Amino acid sequence: MNPAFHIGSLLIHGDAILSPMDGFSDWPFRSICRELGSAVSYTEFIKAEDIVRPGKKTRDKLYFDPAERPVAIQLYGDDPDRLLEAALRAQELEPDFIDINMGCPSKSIAHRGAGVGLMRAPLKVARVFRRLSASLEIPLTGKIRLGWEDCKNYRLIARIVEENGGQALAIHGRTKEQGYAGRADWDAIAEVVAALSIPVIGNGDVKIPADIARMKAHTGCAAVMIGRAAIGNPWIFAGQERGQVTSEQVREVMLTHLERNLVFYGAELGLVLFRKHAVRYISSYRLPGELRRRLLTCERPEAFTALLDEIAAAVV
Ligand SMILES: Cc1cc2nc3c(=O)[nH]c(=O)nc-3n(C[C@H](O)[C@H](O)[C@H](O)COP(=O)(O)O)c2cc1C
Repeated sequence: MNPAFHIGSLLIHGDAILSPMDGFSDWPFRSICRELGSAVSYTEFIKAEDIVRPGKKTRDKLYFDPAERPVAIQLYGDDPDRLLEAALRAQELEPDFIDINMGCPSKSIAHRGAGVGLMRAPLKVARVFRRLSASLEIPLTGKIRLGWEDCKNYRLIARIVEENGGQALAIHGRTKEQGYAGRADWDAIAEVVAALSIPVIGNGDVKIPADIARMKAHTGCAAVMIGRAAIGNPWIFAGQERGQVTSEQVREVMLTHLERNLVFYGAELGLVLFRKHAVRYISSYRLPGELRRRLLTCERPEAFTALLDEIAAAVV
């Protein structure tokens, strides 16, 4: 059994977690990663205001299956009152904890004071964590970055989260300006681990199964989050090297993933949304261009299934 840690009174079994990823960590993909060993399911981030009157897209994002537990609903926003209202509404859906995104670098979010924009307002972070942790019956956690290049205040924000009721902290070892490029700073993650008593989840540059133990040894973090390296490669949560995954395993998981997409989003949207995953599942194979093109433009689920058989035969 993998090591376990606690988020408040919640026991987490396992030390590798699928990162929340907008456009990717929806129920179909999360459930597959969870079945292969991801220790927690985080929803894609959800705008605080959208929870109050959720449309279809937000309802899809809020959906989770009890089999995925423990589940976190991740929220973003810049206004403590709205975040509180959203967290209380989210709590009614009975997730296991609520997570506040303080890492999104996208201009439309960060430059309006949400995502990593919140890190520029430490007093507001304190208010958000104090008010939400006092009002919620379930644990509250946060996910941060190193900060901004002109204000790398991750140590301060980490302490504020802990001192104001946060029960765990995930830290992505890059600045806002780095986005998703350049090396993640694992030394900075180690500093945060040393400074806090709540569990810290390290994130950034975990690409192969061995990186999980490597990051834990380097930083002392309780668990790691894996984002991009899990797309097209959920087997990373089973500790399996991508090169060791058989074409039969790939075919099976792709079919299950496609099926869940079709059930969850309906046939048309489900297939379209599956394409960005399909391209990643097959990215490590040298496939004839024509086969790849047919897979990525296929418009009927049955034809897709037949194509997967052709692919499996081509890569054996
Ligand atoms: C397409 C995409 C969408 C993302 N969406 C979210 C999100 O909704 N919430 C969040 O906290 N982080 C989000 N992230 C950041 C990841 O959770 C993670 O912190 C980042 O990708 C670094 O980890 P990695 O090096 O393992 O990919 C997103 C990243 C990507 C690439």
